[in-house]
Amino acid sequence: MYKIQKICCIGAGYVGGPTMSVIAQKNPHIQVTVVDVNQQRINAWNSQNMDELPIYEPGLGEIVSQVRGRNLFFDTDVDRAIEEADMIFISVNTPTKTYGKGKGMAADLKYIELCARQIARVSKSSKIVVEKSTLPVRTAQAIKRILDQTGNGVEFQILSNPEFLAEGTAIKDLLEPDRVLIGGAETERGNEAIEALASLYRAWVPSDRILATNVWSSELSKLTANAFLAQRVSSINAISELCEVSGANVNEVARAIGTDTRIGNRFLKASVGFGGSCFQKDILNLVYIAQSYGLDEVAQYWEQVIIMNDHQKKRFSEKIVTTLFNTVSDKKIAFLGWAFKKDTNDTRESAAIYIANELIEEQASVHVYDPKVTQMQMLADLDYLNVRSCDINSERLIAHQEAYSAIEGAHAIAVLTEWDEFVCLDWKRIYQQMQKPAFVFDGRGILDQKELENIGFEVYTIGIG
Ligand code: UDX
Ligand code: ADP
Repeated sequence: MYKIQKICCIGAGYVGGPTMSVIAQKNPHIQVTVVDVNQQRINAWNSQNMDELPIYEPGLGEIVSQVRGRNLFFDTDVDRAIEEADMIFISVNTPTKTYGKGKGMAADLKYIELCARQIARVSKSSKIVVEKSTLPVRTAQAIKRILDQTGNGVEFQILSNPEFLAEGTAIKDLLEPDRVLIGGAETERGNEAIEALASLYRAWVPSDRILATNVWSSELSKLTANAFLAQRVSSINAISELCEVSGANVNEVARAIGTDTRIGNRFLKASVGFGGSCFQKDILNLVYIAQSYGLDEVAQYWEQVIIMNDHQKKRFSEKIVTTLFNTVSDKKIAFLGWAFKKDTNDTRESAAIYIANELIEEQASVHVYDPKVTQMQMLADLDYLNVRSCDINSERLIAHQEAYSAIEGAHAIAVLTEWDEFVCLDWKRIYQQMQKPAFVFDGRGILDQKELENIGFEVYTIGIG
Protein backbone atom coordinates (compact mmCIF):
# COMPACT_ATOMS: atom_id res chain seq x y z
CA MET A 1 0.00 0.00 0.00
CA TYR A 2 1.12 3.53 -0.70
CA LYS A 3 1.59 6.00 2.10
CA ILE A 4 1.42 9.57 0.84
CA GLN A 5 3.19 12.18 2.92
CA LYS A 6 4.48 14.61 0.35
CA ILE A 7 3.06 15.56 -2.97
CA CYS A 8 4.45 17.78 -5.66
CA CYS A 9 2.73 19.48 -8.56
CA ILE A 10 4.72 20.51 -11.62
CA GLY A 11 3.14 23.62 -13.16
CA ALA A 12 1.76 26.52 -11.08
CA GLY A 13 -0.93 27.64 -13.50
CA TYR A 14 -4.71 27.89 -13.63
CA VAL A 15 -5.08 24.18 -12.89
CA GLY A 16 -2.13 23.39 -10.59
CA GLY A 17 -2.45 26.46 -8.34
CA PRO A 18 -6.12 26.21 -7.30
CA THR A 19 -6.20 22.39 -7.25
CA MET A 20 -3.20 22.09 -4.96
CA SER A 21 -4.47 24.88 -2.71
CA VAL A 22 -7.68 22.94 -2.09
CA ILE A 23 -5.93 19.56 -1.69
CA ALA A 24 -3.56 21.16 0.85
CA GLN A 25 -6.40 22.85 2.71
CA LYS A 26 -8.31 19.59 3.06
CA ASN A 27 -5.29 17.40 3.85
CA PRO A 28 -3.34 19.36 6.47
CA HIS A 29 -1.08 16.38 7.28
CA ILE A 30 0.25 16.23 3.70
CA GLN A 31 2.97 18.56 2.46
CA VAL A 32 2.11 19.99 -0.95
CA THR A 33 4.76 21.73 -3.04
CA VAL A 34 3.87 23.43 -6.30
CA VAL A 35 6.84 24.00 -8.58
CA ASP A 36 7.28 25.93 -11.79
CA VAL A 37 10.22 26.89 -14.00
CA ASN A 38 8.82 30.40 -14.18
CA GLN A 39 10.45 32.29 -11.29
CA GLN A 40 8.21 35.30 -11.74
CA ARG A 41 5.10 33.14 -11.42
CA ILE A 42 6.40 31.49 -8.25
CA ASN A 43 7.26 34.90 -6.78
CA ALA A 44 3.72 36.03 -7.51
CA TRP A 45 2.29 32.93 -5.77
CA ASN A 46 4.45 33.80 -2.77
CA SER A 47 3.37 37.42 -2.75
CA GLN A 48 2.04 38.78 0.56
CA ASN A 49 -0.60 40.78 -1.27
CA MET A 50 -3.31 38.35 -2.43
CA ASP A 51 -4.20 40.72 -5.30
CA GLU A 52 -0.81 39.89 -6.78
CA LEU A 53 -1.38 36.14 -7.13
CA PRO A 54 -0.69 35.23 -10.78
CA ILE A 55 -4.24 34.13 -11.40
CA TYR A 56 -7.51 35.71 -10.40
CA GLU A 57 -10.08 33.30 -9.09
CA PRO A 58 -12.84 34.11 -6.57
CA GLY A 59 -12.07 32.54 -3.16
CA LEU A 60 -8.52 31.52 -4.05
CA GLY A 61 -6.78 34.28 -2.06
CA GLU A 62 -8.49 33.21 1.18
CA ILE A 63 -7.40 29.59 0.84
CA VAL A 64 -3.83 30.47 -0.15
CA SER A 65 -3.45 32.83 2.79
CA GLN A 66 -4.74 30.12 5.10
CA VAL A 67 -2.51 27.23 3.94
CA ARG A 68 0.58 28.78 2.33
CA GLY A 69 3.57 28.23 4.62
CA ARG A 70 1.56 25.64 6.60
CA ASN A 71 1.51 22.69 4.22
CA LEU A 72 1.41 24.47 0.86
CA PHE A 73 4.62 25.77 -0.72
CA PHE A 74 5.50 27.38 -4.05
CA ASP A 75 9.03 26.87 -5.30
CA THR A 76 11.27 26.74 -8.38
CA ASP A 77 13.40 23.82 -7.22
CA VAL A 78 11.68 21.22 -9.39
CA ASP A 79 14.26 18.46 -8.86
CA ARG A 80 14.11 18.55 -5.10
CA ALA A 81 10.31 18.58 -5.03
CA ILE A 82 10.20 15.56 -7.37
CA GLU A 83 12.76 13.66 -5.37
CA GLU A 84 10.97 14.16 -2.07
CA ALA A 85 7.44 13.49 -3.31
CA ASP A 86 5.49 10.23 -3.09
CA MET A 87 2.98 11.50 -5.63
CA ILE A 88 3.65 13.91 -8.50
CA PHE A 89 0.96 15.79 -10.38
CA ILE A 90 1.83 16.95 -13.89
CA SER A 91 -0.03 20.16 -14.51
CA VAL A 92 1.96 21.86 -17.24
CA ASN A 93 0.50 23.50 -20.31
CA THR A 94 -0.33 21.45 -23.39
CA PRO A 95 -0.94 24.00 -26.16
CA THR A 96 -1.95 23.05 -29.68
CA LYS A 97 1.08 22.33 -31.86
CA THR A 98 2.23 25.31 -33.93
CA TYR A 99 4.67 23.36 -36.08
CA GLY A 100 5.21 20.08 -37.91
CA LYS A 101 2.85 17.09 -38.06
CA GLY A 102 -0.53 17.80 -36.48
CA LYS A 103 0.15 21.56 -36.58
CA GLY A 104 -2.92 23.50 -35.45
CA MET A 105 -4.61 20.34 -34.17
CA ALA A 106 -2.58 17.91 -32.11
CA ALA A 107 -1.52 18.74 -28.56
CA ASP A 108 2.08 19.76 -28.16
CA LEU A 109 3.37 17.29 -25.61
CA LYS A 110 6.82 18.84 -25.43
CA TYR A 111 6.34 20.10 -21.87
CA ILE A 112 4.84 16.82 -20.70
CA GLU A 113 7.69 14.83 -22.16
CA LEU A 114 10.25 17.14 -20.55
CA CYS A 115 8.52 16.60 -17.22
CA ALA A 116 8.49 12.83 -17.64
CA ARG A 117 12.21 12.82 -18.44
CA GLN A 118 12.94 15.01 -15.47
CA ILE A 119 10.94 12.75 -13.15
CA ALA A 120 12.75 9.69 -14.54
CA ARG A 121 16.16 11.29 -14.03
CA VAL A 122 15.57 12.54 -10.51
CA SER A 123 13.47 9.81 -8.86
CA LYS A 124 15.22 7.44 -6.47
CA SER A 125 12.09 5.90 -4.96
CA SER A 126 8.83 4.62 -6.44
CA LYS A 127 6.24 7.26 -7.25
CA ILE A 128 2.70 7.74 -8.41
CA VAL A 129 2.57 10.14 -11.35
CA VAL A 130 -0.78 11.82 -11.95
CA GLU A 131 -1.69 13.44 -15.28
CA LYS A 132 -3.68 16.53 -14.50
CA SER A 133 -3.22 18.45 -17.74
CA THR A 134 -5.72 17.61 -20.46
CA LEU A 135 -3.98 15.23 -22.74
CA PRO A 136 -4.75 13.20 -25.81
CA VAL A 137 -5.81 9.65 -25.22
CA ARG A 138 -2.89 7.28 -24.65
CA THR A 139 -0.51 9.93 -23.34
CA ALA A 140 -0.24 8.05 -20.07
CA GLN A 141 1.24 5.17 -21.99
CA ALA A 142 3.89 7.46 -23.51
CA ILE A 143 4.74 8.86 -20.10
CA LYS A 144 5.05 5.36 -18.71
CA ARG A 145 7.42 4.28 -21.46
CA ILE A 146 9.68 7.25 -20.85
CA LEU A 147 9.66 6.67 -17.10
CA ASP A 148 10.26 2.93 -17.31
CA GLN A 149 12.98 3.10 -19.94
CA THR A 150 14.94 6.12 -18.81
CA GLY A 151 14.38 5.93 -15.06
CA ASN A 152 16.60 4.56 -12.32
CA GLY A 153 14.71 1.28 -12.11
CA VAL A 154 12.16 2.52 -9.58
CA GLU A 155 8.46 1.72 -9.96
CA PHE A 156 6.05 4.29 -11.45
CA GLN A 157 2.28 4.05 -11.46
CA ILE A 158 0.58 6.46 -13.84
CA LEU A 159 -2.87 7.81 -13.09
CA SER A 160 -5.13 10.04 -15.13
CA ASN A 161 -7.07 12.49 -12.98
CA PRO A 162 -8.59 15.04 -15.35
CA GLU A 163 -9.62 18.44 -14.12
CA PHE A 164 -13.22 19.50 -14.53
CA LEU A 165 -12.95 22.91 -12.88
CA ALA A 166 -14.09 25.88 -14.88
CA GLU A 167 -12.20 29.13 -14.49
CA GLY A 168 -14.02 31.80 -12.53
CA THR A 169 -15.67 29.07 -10.43
CA ALA A 170 -12.57 26.92 -9.86
CA ILE A 171 -12.70 26.94 -6.07
CA LYS A 172 -16.39 26.11 -5.94
CA ASP A 173 -15.92 23.37 -8.56
CA LEU A 174 -13.02 21.92 -6.57
CA LEU A 175 -14.86 22.05 -3.24
CA GLU A 176 -18.08 20.56 -4.62
CA PRO A 177 -17.18 18.49 -7.67
CA ASP A 178 -19.91 16.62 -9.56
CA ARG A 179 -17.39 13.81 -9.71
CA VAL A 180 -13.69 13.07 -9.48
CA LEU A 181 -12.39 10.76 -12.15
CA ILE A 182 -9.33 8.59 -11.58
CA GLY A 183 -8.00 6.33 -14.30
CA GLY A 184 -5.36 3.75 -13.49
CA ALA A 185 -3.82 0.48 -14.60
CA GLU A 186 -6.10 -2.53 -14.18
CA THR A 187 -3.61 -4.32 -11.92
CA GLU A 188 -3.22 -4.71 -8.18
CA ARG A 189 -0.62 -1.94 -7.97
CA GLY A 190 -2.75 0.21 -10.28
CA ASN A 191 -5.69 -0.18 -7.89
CA GLU A 192 -3.49 0.69 -4.93
CA ALA A 193 -2.36 3.86 -6.67
CA ILE A 194 -5.98 4.80 -7.47
CA GLU A 195 -6.85 4.21 -3.82
CA ALA A 196 -3.95 6.44 -2.67
CA LEU A 197 -5.21 9.34 -4.79
CA ALA A 198 -8.86 8.67 -3.93
CA SER A 199 -8.02 8.92 -0.24
CA LEU A 200 -6.79 12.51 -0.73
CA TYR A 201 -10.11 13.45 -2.32
CA ARG A 202 -12.16 11.56 0.27
CA ALA A 203 -11.02 14.21 2.77
CA TRP A 204 -13.93 16.26 1.39
CA VAL A 205 -15.58 14.49 -1.56
CA PRO A 206 -18.23 11.79 -0.90
CA SER A 207 -16.98 8.33 -1.98
CA ASP A 208 -19.77 7.81 -4.48
CA ARG A 209 -18.54 10.80 -6.45
CA ILE A 210 -15.08 9.33 -6.94
CA LEU A 211 -15.13 7.22 -10.08
CA ALA A 212 -12.38 4.77 -10.99
CA THR A 213 -11.87 3.77 -14.63
CA ASN A 214 -9.10 2.52 -16.83
CA VAL A 215 -6.60 5.16 -17.96
CA TRP A 216 -7.89 5.57 -21.50
CA SER A 217 -11.51 5.96 -20.47
CA SER A 218 -10.46 8.67 -18.07
CA GLU A 219 -8.40 10.53 -20.68
CA LEU A 220 -11.16 10.25 -23.29
CA SER A 221 -13.87 11.31 -20.82
CA LYS A 222 -12.18 14.64 -20.32
CA LEU A 223 -12.04 15.38 -24.04
CA THR A 224 -15.61 14.17 -24.44
CA ALA A 225 -16.97 16.29 -21.58
CA ASN A 226 -15.46 19.43 -23.09
CA ALA A 227 -16.56 18.49 -26.60
CA PHE A 228 -20.17 18.02 -25.39
CA LEU A 229 -20.17 21.33 -23.53
CA ALA A 230 -18.66 23.23 -26.46
CA GLN A 231 -21.14 21.52 -28.78
CA ARG A 232 -24.02 22.95 -26.74
CA VAL A 233 -22.59 26.45 -27.09
CA SER A 234 -22.07 26.05 -30.83
CA SER A 235 -25.57 24.60 -31.20
CA ILE A 236 -27.26 27.54 -29.49
CA ASN A 237 -24.98 29.95 -31.36
CA ALA A 238 -26.08 28.36 -34.65
CA ILE A 239 -29.69 28.94 -33.60
CA SER A 240 -28.85 32.55 -32.62
CA GLU A 241 -28.12 33.42 -36.23
CA LEU A 242 -31.38 31.83 -37.32
CA CYS A 243 -33.22 33.84 -34.63
CA GLU A 244 -31.76 37.08 -35.92
CA VAL A 245 -32.99 36.57 -39.46
CA SER A 246 -36.36 35.08 -38.53
CA GLY A 247 -37.35 37.48 -35.75
CA ALA A 248 -37.12 34.94 -32.92
CA ASN A 249 -35.32 35.59 -29.63
CA VAL A 250 -32.57 33.15 -28.72
CA ASN A 251 -33.07 33.70 -25.00
CA GLU A 252 -36.67 32.62 -25.30
CA VAL A 253 -35.70 29.61 -27.36
CA ALA A 254 -32.99 28.67 -24.82
CA ARG A 255 -35.44 29.00 -21.95
CA ALA A 256 -38.01 26.91 -23.78
CA ILE A 257 -35.66 24.06 -24.61
CA GLY A 258 -33.80 24.31 -21.29
CA THR A 259 -36.93 23.40 -19.35
CA ASP A 260 -36.93 20.04 -21.12
CA THR A 261 -35.19 17.99 -18.43
CA ARG A 262 -33.59 15.81 -21.09
CA ILE A 263 -31.80 18.88 -22.43
CA GLY A 264 -31.30 20.93 -19.24
CA ASN A 265 -30.76 24.66 -18.92
CA ARG A 266 -26.99 25.06 -18.64
CA PHE A 267 -24.53 26.00 -21.40
CA LEU A 268 -27.31 27.42 -23.55
CA LYS A 269 -26.27 31.06 -23.44
CA ALA A 270 -25.72 32.38 -26.95
CA SER A 271 -22.49 34.36 -27.18
CA VAL A 272 -19.91 35.87 -29.46
CA GLY A 273 -18.22 32.46 -29.32
CA PHE A 274 -16.59 30.25 -26.73
CA GLY A 275 -13.00 30.73 -25.67
CA GLY A 276 -10.71 29.42 -22.97
CA SER A 277 -7.78 27.10 -22.94
CA CYS A 278 -9.78 23.87 -23.16
CA PHE A 279 -12.70 23.74 -25.56
CA GLN A 280 -11.00 24.37 -28.86
CA LYS A 281 -7.83 22.53 -27.93
CA ASP A 282 -9.66 19.45 -26.68
CA ILE A 283 -11.95 19.23 -29.69
CA LEU A 284 -9.03 19.62 -32.06
CA ASN A 285 -7.39 16.82 -30.16
CA LEU A 286 -10.45 14.64 -30.51
CA VAL A 287 -10.60 15.41 -34.22
CA TYR A 288 -6.92 14.60 -34.63
CA ILE A 289 -7.23 11.31 -32.78
CA ALA A 290 -10.30 10.33 -34.82
CA GLN A 291 -8.46 11.20 -38.04
CA SER A 292 -5.43 9.24 -37.04
CA TYR A 293 -7.63 6.16 -36.60
CA GLY A 294 -9.15 6.85 -40.05
CA LEU A 295 -12.55 7.81 -38.59
CA ASP A 296 -13.28 10.66 -40.98
CA GLU A 297 -16.99 11.06 -40.20
CA VAL A 298 -16.29 11.22 -36.48
CA ALA A 299 -13.58 13.81 -37.08
CA GLN A 300 -15.81 15.95 -39.30
CA TYR A 301 -18.71 15.76 -36.85
CA TRP A 302 -16.69 17.33 -34.03
CA GLU A 303 -14.79 19.71 -36.26
CA GLN A 304 -18.06 21.41 -37.11
CA VAL A 305 -18.28 22.65 -33.49
CA ILE A 306 -15.11 24.67 -34.11
CA ILE A 307 -16.19 25.84 -37.56
CA MET A 308 -19.43 27.18 -36.02
CA ASN A 309 -17.48 28.96 -33.30
CA ASP A 310 -15.14 30.62 -35.79
CA HIS A 311 -18.15 31.68 -37.83
CA GLN A 312 -19.83 33.22 -34.78
CA LYS A 313 -16.76 35.39 -34.03
CA LYS A 314 -16.39 36.41 -37.64
CA ARG A 315 -20.01 37.40 -38.13
CA PHE A 316 -19.89 39.52 -34.96
CA SER A 317 -17.00 41.63 -36.24
CA GLU A 318 -18.61 41.84 -39.67
CA LYS A 319 -21.82 43.03 -38.04
CA ILE A 320 -19.91 45.89 -36.40
CA VAL A 321 -18.33 46.97 -39.68
CA THR A 322 -21.48 46.78 -41.79
CA THR A 323 -23.58 48.57 -39.16
CA LEU A 324 -21.04 51.38 -38.87
CA PHE A 325 -21.75 52.29 -42.52
CA ASN A 326 -19.24 49.78 -43.85
CA THR A 327 -16.20 51.49 -42.42
CA VAL A 328 -14.50 51.56 -39.05
CA SER A 329 -11.34 53.15 -40.37
CA ASP A 330 -9.96 55.47 -37.68
CA LYS A 331 -13.13 55.10 -35.65
CA LYS A 332 -12.87 54.48 -31.94
CA ILE A 333 -14.48 51.19 -30.93
CA ALA A 334 -14.71 50.51 -27.20
CA PHE A 335 -14.47 46.93 -25.90
CA LEU A 336 -16.00 46.03 -22.57
CA GLY A 337 -14.10 42.90 -21.61
CA TRP A 338 -11.14 40.96 -22.94
CA ALA A 339 -11.07 37.82 -20.75
CA PHE A 340 -12.71 34.71 -22.25
CA LYS A 341 -15.39 34.88 -19.56
CA LYS A 342 -16.12 36.78 -16.36
CA ASP A 343 -14.32 36.32 -13.03
CA THR A 344 -11.00 35.31 -14.57
CA ASN A 345 -7.95 37.12 -15.91
CA ASP A 346 -7.37 34.32 -18.42
CA THR A 347 -7.53 35.43 -22.06
CA ARG A 348 -6.56 32.27 -23.89
CA GLU A 349 -8.63 31.87 -27.08
CA SER A 350 -10.87 34.73 -25.99
CA ALA A 351 -13.27 35.88 -28.73
CA ALA A 352 -12.17 39.47 -27.99
CA ILE A 353 -8.74 38.76 -29.48
CA TYR A 354 -10.23 37.75 -32.81
CA ILE A 355 -12.76 40.56 -32.92
CA ALA A 356 -10.02 43.10 -32.15
CA ASN A 357 -7.83 41.60 -34.83
CA GLU A 358 -10.55 41.86 -37.48
CA LEU A 359 -11.35 45.45 -36.53
CA ILE A 360 -7.69 46.49 -36.52
CA GLU A 361 -7.42 44.92 -39.97
CA GLU A 362 -10.16 47.43 -40.91
CA GLN A 363 -8.00 50.18 -39.34
CA ALA A 364 -10.19 50.79 -36.31
CA SER A 365 -8.81 52.12 -33.07
CA VAL A 366 -9.74 49.65 -30.31
CA HIS A 367 -10.02 50.89 -26.70
CA VAL A 368 -10.43 48.17 -24.13
CA TYR A 369 -11.48 48.05 -20.52
CA ASP A 370 -11.29 44.75 -18.66
CA PRO A 371 -11.22 44.76 -14.85
CA LYS A 372 -8.56 42.03 -14.66
CA VAL A 373 -6.54 42.05 -17.88
CA THR A 374 -3.48 44.25 -18.45
CA GLN A 375 -2.59 46.05 -21.67
CA MET A 376 0.58 43.97 -21.82
CA GLN A 377 -1.49 40.77 -21.93
CA MET A 378 -3.85 42.17 -24.59
CA LEU A 379 -0.95 43.12 -26.83
CA ALA A 380 0.74 39.77 -26.26
CA ASP A 381 -2.49 38.05 -27.35
CA LEU A 382 -2.68 40.12 -30.53
CA ASP A 383 1.01 39.76 -31.32
CA TYR A 384 0.65 35.99 -30.89
CA LEU A 385 -1.69 35.91 -33.90
CA ASN A 386 1.26 37.14 -35.91
CA VAL A 387 -0.87 39.12 -38.35
CA ARG A 388 0.97 42.47 -38.28
CA SER A 389 3.83 44.19 -36.53
CA CYS A 390 3.78 44.69 -32.77
CA ASP A 391 4.17 48.44 -33.36
CA ILE A 392 0.92 48.65 -35.30
CA ASN A 393 -0.88 46.57 -32.68
CA SER A 394 0.24 48.88 -29.89
CA GLU A 395 -0.81 51.92 -31.91
CA ARG A 396 -4.26 50.47 -32.57
CA LEU A 397 -5.06 48.87 -29.22
CA ILE A 398 -5.24 50.97 -26.07
CA ALA A 399 -6.18 49.61 -22.65
CA HIS A 400 -7.97 51.72 -20.04
CA GLN A 401 -8.17 51.50 -16.26
CA GLU A 402 -11.88 52.19 -16.22
CA ALA A 403 -14.85 51.90 -18.56
CA TYR A 404 -15.76 55.57 -19.08
CA SER A 405 -12.45 56.69 -20.56
CA ALA A 406 -12.45 53.68 -22.90
CA ILE A 407 -15.89 54.69 -24.12
CA GLU A 408 -15.50 58.48 -24.35
CA GLY A 409 -15.90 59.65 -27.95
CA ALA A 410 -16.40 56.09 -29.26
CA HIS A 411 -18.60 55.27 -32.22
CA ALA A 412 -19.53 51.89 -30.84
CA ILE A 413 -19.24 49.63 -27.81
CA ALA A 414 -18.73 45.88 -28.08
CA VAL A 415 -19.50 43.83 -24.96
CA LEU A 416 -17.21 40.82 -25.14
CA THR A 417 -17.05 39.52 -21.55
CA GLU A 418 -20.05 39.24 -19.23
CA TRP A 419 -18.47 41.00 -16.20
CA ASP A 420 -21.26 41.93 -13.75
CA GLU A 421 -19.99 45.49 -13.38
CA PHE A 422 -20.77 46.31 -17.04
CA VAL A 423 -24.50 46.00 -16.38
CA CYS A 424 -24.29 48.59 -13.59
CA LEU A 425 -22.52 51.30 -15.63
CA ASP A 426 -24.20 54.70 -15.98
CA TRP A 427 -25.52 54.12 -19.49
CA LYS A 428 -27.10 57.59 -19.75
CA ARG A 429 -23.72 59.18 -19.10
CA ILE A 430 -22.12 56.82 -21.60
CA TYR A 431 -24.65 57.80 -24.25
CA GLN A 432 -23.79 61.45 -23.80
CA GLN A 433 -20.07 60.77 -24.17
CA MET A 434 -20.34 58.85 -27.44
CA GLN A 435 -20.47 59.79 -31.11
CA LYS A 436 -23.97 59.64 -32.59
CA PRO A 437 -25.54 57.42 -33.63
CA ALA A 438 -24.25 55.51 -30.59
CA PHE A 439 -24.07 51.76 -31.23
CA VAL A 440 -23.89 48.93 -28.73
CA PHE A 441 -23.04 45.40 -29.85
CA ASP A 442 -23.84 43.05 -27.00
CA GLY A 443 -21.94 39.82 -27.67
CA ARG A 444 -22.94 38.36 -24.31
CA GLY A 445 -26.60 39.24 -24.05
CA ILE A 446 -26.15 40.88 -20.64
CA LEU A 447 -27.66 44.32 -21.28
CA ASP A 448 -31.32 45.31 -21.33
CA GLN A 449 -31.79 46.11 -25.01
CA LYS A 450 -35.12 47.97 -24.54
CA GLU A 451 -33.72 50.19 -21.79
CA LEU A 452 -30.69 51.14 -23.91
CA GLU A 453 -32.88 51.86 -26.92
CA ASN A 454 -35.00 54.17 -24.76
CA ILE A 455 -31.85 56.12 -23.88
CA GLY A 456 -31.13 56.51 -27.61
CA PHE A 457 -28.62 53.73 -28.37
CA GLU A 458 -28.84 51.55 -31.44
CA VAL A 459 -28.45 48.05 -30.04
CA TYR A 460 -27.52 44.72 -31.57
CA THR A 461 -27.77 41.70 -29.27
CA ILE A 462 -26.60 38.27 -30.37
CA GLY A 463 -29.60 36.16 -31.27
CA ILE A 464 -32.29 38.81 -31.19
CA GLY A 465 -33.99 39.58 -34.49
C1 UDX B 1 -14.15 24.31 -19.39
C2 UDX B 1 -15.03 23.23 -18.74
O1 UDX B 1 -16.27 23.81 -18.34
C3 UDX B 1 -14.30 22.62 -17.55
O2 UDX B 1 -15.08 21.58 -16.98
C4 UDX B 1 -12.97 22.08 -18.03
O3 UDX B 1 -12.24 21.51 -16.98
C5 UDX B 1 -12.15 23.17 -18.70
O4 UDX B 1 -12.90 23.76 -19.76
P1 UDX B 1 -13.55 26.86 -18.86
O5 UDX B 1 -12.84 26.86 -20.16
O6 UDX B 1 -12.86 27.41 -17.67
O7 UDX B 1 -13.98 25.37 -18.46
O8 UDX B 1 -14.90 27.69 -19.02
P2 UDX B 1 -16.42 27.41 -19.37
O9 UDX B 1 -17.27 27.96 -18.29
O10 UDX B 1 -16.67 26.02 -19.74
O11 UDX B 1 -16.64 28.36 -20.65
C6 UDX B 1 -15.98 28.16 -21.87
C7 UDX B 1 -16.42 29.19 -22.89
O12 UDX B 1 -17.76 28.96 -23.32
C8 UDX B 1 -16.38 30.63 -22.36
O13 UDX B 1 -15.84 31.49 -23.35
C9 UDX B 1 -17.83 30.94 -22.09
O14 UDX B 1 -18.11 32.31 -22.16
C10 UDX B 1 -18.50 30.16 -23.22
N1 UDX B 1 -19.91 29.82 -22.91
C11 UDX B 1 -20.21 28.99 -21.88
C12 UDX B 1 -20.93 30.36 -23.70
O15 UDX B 1 -20.67 31.10 -24.63
N2 UDX B 1 -22.23 30.03 -23.40
C13 UDX B 1 -22.56 29.19 -22.38
O16 UDX B 1 -23.75 28.93 -22.19
C14 UDX B 1 -21.52 28.66 -21.58
P1 ADP C 1 -3.08 25.39 -17.14
O1 ADP C 1 -4.25 26.25 -17.50
O2 ADP C 1 -3.14 24.02 -17.79
O3 ADP C 1 -2.84 25.30 -15.66
P2 ADP C 1 -0.87 27.29 -17.40
O4 ADP C 1 -0.19 27.74 -18.65
O5 ADP C 1 -1.66 28.27 -16.60
O6 ADP C 1 -1.79 26.04 -17.82
O7 ADP C 1 0.19 26.64 -16.41
C1 ADP C 1 1.17 25.73 -16.77
C2 ADP C 1 2.46 26.07 -16.02
O8 ADP C 1 3.40 24.99 -16.21
C3 ADP C 1 3.20 27.33 -16.49
O9 ADP C 1 3.32 28.22 -15.41
C4 ADP C 1 4.57 26.81 -16.98
O10 ADP C 1 5.64 27.69 -16.64
C5 ADP C 1 4.71 25.52 -16.21
N1 ADP C 1 5.63 24.54 -16.81
C6 ADP C 1 5.68 24.10 -18.10
N2 ADP C 1 6.66 23.17 -18.26
C7 ADP C 1 7.26 23.01 -17.05
C8 ADP C 1 8.32 22.17 -16.55
N3 ADP C 1 8.97 21.31 -17.34
N4 ADP C 1 8.67 22.28 -15.25
C9 ADP C 1 8.00 23.13 -14.43
N5 ADP C 1 6.99 23.94 -14.83
C10 ADP C 1 6.61 23.88 -16.12
